[in-house]
Amino acid sequence: MSGVNEIRSAFLDYFRKEGHEVVASSPLVPRNDPTLMFTNAGMVQFKNVFTGLESRPYSRATTSQKCVRAGGKHNDLDNVGYTARHHTFFEMLGNFSFGDYFKERAIELAWNLITREFGIAKDRLLVTVYHTDDAAAGFWKKIAGLPEDRIIRIATSDNFWAMGDTGPCGPCSEIFYDHGDDIPGGPPGSPDEDGDRFIEIWNLVFMQFEQVTKAERVELPRPSIDTGMGLERIAAVLQGEHDNYDIDLFKALIRASEEATGVKAEGKNRASHRVIADHLRASSFLIADGVLPSNEGRGYVLRRIMRRAMRHAQLLGARDPLMWRLVPALVREMGQAYPELVRGQPLISETLKLEETRFRKTLARGLGLLADATETLGSGDRLDGETAFKLYDTYGFPLDLTQDALRQRGVSVDLDGFNAAMERQKAEARKSWAGSGDAATETVWFAVREKAGATEFLGYDTEQAEGIVQALVRDGVAVESAVAGDTIGVVVNQTPFYGESGGQMGDTGVITGEGFAIEVTDTQKKGDGLFVHFGKVTNGTVKTGEAVELKVDHIRRTRLRSNHSATHLVHEALREVLGTHVAQKGSLVAPERLRFDFSHPKPISAEELERVEAMANEVVVQNGPVTTRLMSVDDAIAEGAMALFGEKYGDEVRVVSMGTGIAGDKAGKPYSVELCGGTHVGATGDIGLVRLVSEGAVAAGVRRIEALTGEAARKHLDEQDKRLKAVAATLKISPADVPARVEALLDERKKLEKELTEARKKLALGDRSPAGVPTENETIAGVGFLGKAVSGVAPKDLKPLADAGKKSLGSGVVVFVGTAEDNKASVVVGVTDDLTGRFSAVDLVRVASAALGGQGGGGRPDMAQAGGPDASKAEDAIAAVKAALEAA
Ligand code: ALA
Repeated sequence: MSGVNEIRSAFLDYFRKEGHEVVASSPLVPRNDPTLMFTNAGMVQFKNVFTGLESRPYSRATTSQKCVRAGGKHNDLDNVGYTARHHTFFEMLGNFSFGDYFKERAIELAWNLITREFGIAKDRLLVTVYHTDDAAAGFWKKIAGLPEDRIIRIATSDNFWAMGDTGPCGPCSEIFYDHGDDIPGGPPGSPDEDGDRFIEIWNLVFMQFEQVTKAERVELPRPSIDTGMGLERIAAVLQGEHDNYDIDLFKALIRASEEATGVKAEGKNRASHRVIADHLRASSFLIADGVLPSNEGRGYVLRRIMRRAMRHAQLLGARDPLMWRLVPALVREMGQAYPELVRGQPLISETLKLEETRFRKTLARGLGLLADATETLGSGDRLDGETAFKLYDTYGFPLDLTQDALRQRGVSVDLDGFNAAMERQKAEARKSWAGSGDAATETVWFAVREKAGATEFLGYDTEQAEGIVQALVRDGVAVESAVAGDTIGVVVNQTPFYGESGGQMGDTGVITGEGFAIEVTDTQKKGDGLFVHFGKVTNGTVKTGEAVELKVDHIRRTRLRSNHSATHLVHEALREVLGTHVAQKGSLVAPERLRFDFSHPKPISAEELERVEAMANEVVVQNGPVTTRLMSVDDAIAEGAMALFGEKYGDEVRVVSMGTGIAGDKAGKPYSVELCGGTHVGATGDIGLVRLVSEGAVAAGVRRIEALTGEAARKHLDEQDKRLKAVAATLKISPADVPARVEALLDERKKLEKELTEARKKLALGDRSPAGVPTENETIAGVGFLGKAVSGVAPKDLKPLADAGKKSLGSGVVVFVGTAEDNKASVVVGVTDDLTGRFSAVDLVRVASAALGGQGGGGRPDMAQAGGPDASKAEDAIAAVKAALEAA
């Protein structure tokens, strides 16, 4: 007897040998199909290959696909636990031909596998075909030798398979296994076909059409094959079991649940253990694929599954959260085939534990309320909608949990009453929104939000996805369509575009659809979880309800990730270097740089900045994974997570950790732990390099640091390096010698300046004067006189010069005209004390100034200064003073 793991491998091996590419399971959240809640069949990842939109380097493939059927078209949630074959999560084995082989070969491959490889007795098998499909019936007869009465023609949609309301589809042929006449039930198509004796084990779909809209069906470019075999069902057959929950895999999970609760899976407790085992798989795989519990969309389906299991854990008497304790058993059973379970194990355990801890706070009271409200009800009665809504709204009971709790007593729920209560609550919310003072233009988003629901954000896991346009807003008004040139806001049911928040700028990119394109220049969040893509229609006409492909600008997003993660590292490094008073006051994560404002009372020294930068880069080089967990705010803060400035937090928060502490208290612990909804690098090494480029004050007690990462940081360094090399080349030395040389040059320059000033002074005083300049003092009208035009002497140095001149004359008058390059002149006149009775320096300087084209001047009788605009008249000014002396 083969275990589930061997059967899975045997299936894939068989098709590999038959020329099929073994392709990994795609994630449970379909990236290429906005119409699907979860991947619900093996063909989902190949949808666009069937329709010809996408091509792959192979035309045959085989997979073991993770599937969830809960919420959406195929929904098995309500039955799980009470039947032998319903699951929320299951694995679908399949083989696919993309225009390669068709019906005949598909039937041959299937028949050979189950009868030869798996050794199933032929007389246990029968098949169905679509009632008009003579070709398929003929092949079954020819290949399998099945008699007519075991090839059953079915006219219903049971034998026409469709992925959803739209998408590839076609007639199908199902293979049934007869579990024996000790089990009640008839063959397919018979009145008691719903019995449990004849079980479908494999569905071969002859993909021929694409359902484009509800009304329009077109032929696929090439007929193809899509098959699906439930691994749990075939395992039951091969292990001689009738019930899927009795296969090795489920036995192991149920055993773990029995051990953890101390309660045997017997009698009334059997269903609870089965629910727990099934829901453990669905929850864990969904979390591993990036879905986290929430109150909307996929997250809410996950929450419903989790809480349904948690009620059953309570029924089994579990006193503490149970589900998370079963994760190791699941990883043991399935981790090898699905490594994402191993990678995601910590996140899965924590998410389950948190959800169960939280839910247990209201679960017991809610069950009490339910018991009171249904005390007098019996089979066939209905619980009133108000109570069901109260359980939902106040006690966190998803509707199906309440229904499940009443199921065994045959009590149902008044759904109309429940919906009416829900509507009333929405109306209240609308009123409070209208009164909240938001600008009128913003109310349009409330209406959109109400109609479209919250946008599902896929951008943590992907930068590309498909979506359906929910709303278009132009000039503040919701419109049905927009044309090329229109500037619009677009709301899509799900998006990989990050809406600006937590300092991180919104994503840009393109949204395309059949015949139109929109360039997205910004993405913003509006109201409660609505993502609005702002941009311009670049061509064609976009209408609401249309399918679109959303593609985030990858390079820009990569830079945003890197800058966001670096912001966390710089934040922590600042706290380590400057102290824990450092608190974030704001931040901007842009693609080209990051800006971080924080409280700190004084400037930061160069040495401190260097340490901050070095520390951040040390964590970059560690290249450890950046991990995200979902926690309650209180738990996160208790774990040391830093809450962000100005952010509103819900009940649950994302906690982003990166790096390992290097020294002190933090050694060996996560380096940075922050509450953050932003997008981050996968590992710190992706940041490449952190470079601080500026630091300064923005307000009292608030400093700002700007930094670059990755390529921008490298370029910045490169430019600085180039400048340094240019300096070195000019100096004709090596770059390493530049600082010492520049310092030496500056010293030398200071020395030379001093020498030059001295030399000029001496020159002006007639000492060792070069030829052509008078060196002897004159005597004018019996008064000693020294007059000179000097260049290169600053006006402030003229007075000391005049003092020196007076000294050398002993008794007399000195005039120095300083000439500057811009042809301005300054003039100083000095009169020795013995002569101030006869001449005033002030009068004389005015005479000189007039000759220089100026007027005025001032000072004392012994020393006065003035200026003039025309330095070329320097000699005239000296002559004018001489003339004044003569005239006196
Ligand atoms: N896509 C087919 C199914 O899900 C094989 O049954």
